[in-house]
This record gives sequence, C-alpha cells and structure tokens, in this order.
Amino acid sequence: MKRNILIHPDPRLKKVCDPVPDLSDELRVLADDMLETMYDAPGIGLAAPQIGVLSRLIVLDCAKSDNDEEARPLVMFNPQVVASSDERNVYEEGCLSIPEQYAEVERPKVVDVEWLDTDGVLQKETFDGLWATCVQHEIDHLDGKLFIDYLKPLRRQMITRKMVKLKKERAREGS
Ligand code: NI
Repeated sequence: MKRNILIHPDPRLKKVCDPVPDLSDELRVLADDMLETMYDAPGIGLAAPQIGVLSRLIVLDCAKSDNDEEARPLVMFNPQVVASSDERNVYEEGCLSIPEQYAEVERPKVVDVEWLDTDGVLQKETFDGLWATCVQHEIDHLDGKLFIDYLKPLRRQMITRKMVKLKKERAREGS
C-alpha cells in the first residue's frame, strides 16, 4: 500500500528515531509499503520518518533502470555506518520530502554499513558512489537530519520557505 510522504518542514522529520527491537510481520509490511511508495514517487531511497513512522528503517535502490541495471531493493533495519573513507565525494542530492530542490552535498565516498535484513540477519556491505551517498542520506533521516542541513543557513531558509509555500498550495488544493 502506498503511503503519504511528509513534506519538510514537519516536526516528525526532525526526530531521532527508535531502534527496531524485534522484527515482525507488521514491520515487513511497512518495509514493502515503503518500497512501493519509493518506486512510485519515483525515488532511490526512503526512510520511515518520511511516512511518519519514527523507527530506524530505510529502503533504497540506486540501480539505474535506464542502464538496464537490475532492480536491487534493499531493506535495512537499524542501519549503521561502521566505517567511512577519508576520500570524499560530492553529489547533487534531492529528497522526496523536499520536492524539486537539489543541492550539492559532500560526504565520505565509501562507507561500510551494518544492518538487519528482513529475516533479522545481520548484514554488512561496502557502498561506493551513489549508493554510498544514498545510504548516508537515508540514515541521516533516522537522526532527524536532512540534506539541506549541510547547506549554508541562507540557502536552507530559502528552500524551507519554498516548501512552506508548497504545503500551503497543496492544502488549498486539498491534495
Ligand atoms: Ni531524503
């Protein structure tokens, strides 16, 4: 089932989320819903707080379908960056909670991430390039951090004002 994506500014997007204590069917359904919502948007990553659930859960798939790259949906419970490279990378980032706004953000180029998969099994993998940026961006969401928090205050305030306006417009349209 497709879920509604919260738009910044929203207090739920600024919260530190709770670890997932035990995996349940309810959480697996939630993860499926998040993947469906992400693909539909379309986006390459989504974190639970973006649909108003304050749990440490993210989904992502950075495979490029236009490159005939096979889809690779990843579901991560309690994801953690356990190591990151000194080498850094700059990507133009966007966010489904901040529609149509993009900005360059610098982050470690390579990260090792640990998480629990949908069977509750601990996984560890090294991510590089767009995957590394995406997984860091999504984990940030679990700590109430948005990509615009890396920007200079003036730029951040400008984007936030645009989002306030967008939300008002949408509320008027009743969508
Ligand atoms: Ni985001």
